[in-house]
Amino acid sequence: MKVSCLPLLACTAQAIRIVQSNDDGWAELFLRSFNDALQATGHEAVVSAPAENKSGTSSLDAEPKDRRDACEYDSCPPNSGAFGSNATRPELNWVNSFPVTSMRFGIERFGPALWDGEAPELAVAGPNVGTNIWVQVPFSGTVGAAAYAAHEAGIPSIAFSTDEGTRHRWDTSPVPPESLVYAELATTLTNKVIASGKPYLPDDVFLNVNLPKASADCDASSVKWVLSRINPGLFSAPDVAWCGSERLPTELKVFQTDGCFASISVGDAADKTTVDAERQAIVLDKLKDILTCLP
Ligand SMILES: *[C@@H]1O[C@H](CO)[C@@H](O)[C@H](O)[C@H]1NC(C)=O
Ligand SMILES: *[C@@H]1O[C@H](CO)[C@@H](O)[C@H](O)[C@H]1NC(C)=O
Repeated sequence: MKVSCLPLLACTAQAIRIVQSNDDGWAELFLRSFNDALQATGHEAVVSAPAENKSGTSSLDAEPKDRRDACEYDSCPPNSGAFGSNATRPELNWVNSFPVTSMRFGIERFGPALWDGEAPELAVAGPNVGTNIWVQVPFSGTVGAAAYAAHEAGIPSIAFSTDEGTRHRWDTSPVPPESLVYAELATTLTNKVIASGKPYLPDDVFLNVNLPKASADCDASSVKWVLSRINPGLFSAPDVAWCGSERLPTELKVFQTDGCFASISVGDAADKTTVDAERQAIVLDKLKDILTCLP
């Protein structure tokens, strides 16, 4: 696969193989803007996502069936089979099934087909239309796809979600600014994780990232990253010591804090809860220099 490095964003030192999915569908603009941004920094980013909106389908996985209808936003014609690709951009693929199934096809089929049989080095999901915070996490197909990659396929993964309710088709022109903001933020964090070196994340870990609503006051340069936890953990063992405490703020607390904060929770890919302090510490060490404490 030919990758060009556009001057839009700085080219990263380490260009890697990245598989992308989501639960809003392969033709959702946020996913496509993220793909553009990853490619612009030099990565070989391959999309494999559901043919249509599969929000809320958690970790469901089923062999794709032949489609009768067109894909979402008429992004594929009726009767197009069980999976398919953009005719001129083979790195953009759809699967007529769930987010987890799509991620699996990306890892096992679409990625290796373009990478001389090689596997992806990192998996990313989203940016989701809507947040995936705490009680939303178990139901999210975006989180499900990321957890599948880390747990079943052993590929480090990041789930990105946004405080944004509006969907846009892939070919919306001009691209709304929020789609570019989420793509840039997701790419920034992805590249930070990559720059921290292999292994990119501890075994069986995914990052659950929630981005604040983009606005004039909250653009890609003003967002601050906060290390958080998924569930409150009232009776849990202490978290990694950070920001003067042994209890990380919940991602809900980060979300509710005035300002422009993105939460990064270290998720256990086995059960989508918060990981132990030991694995939090490894991630903290990798991300420390971009992290902020809540006021
Ligand atoms: C996407 O699917 C979810 C879950 O079925 C549903 O709640 C939501 O309304 C759907 N969104 C669109 C735009 O179809
Ligand atoms: C497929 O890719 C072409 C560019 O090569 C683009 O014009 C078209 O909109 C894409 N369609 C979909 C559904 O991705």
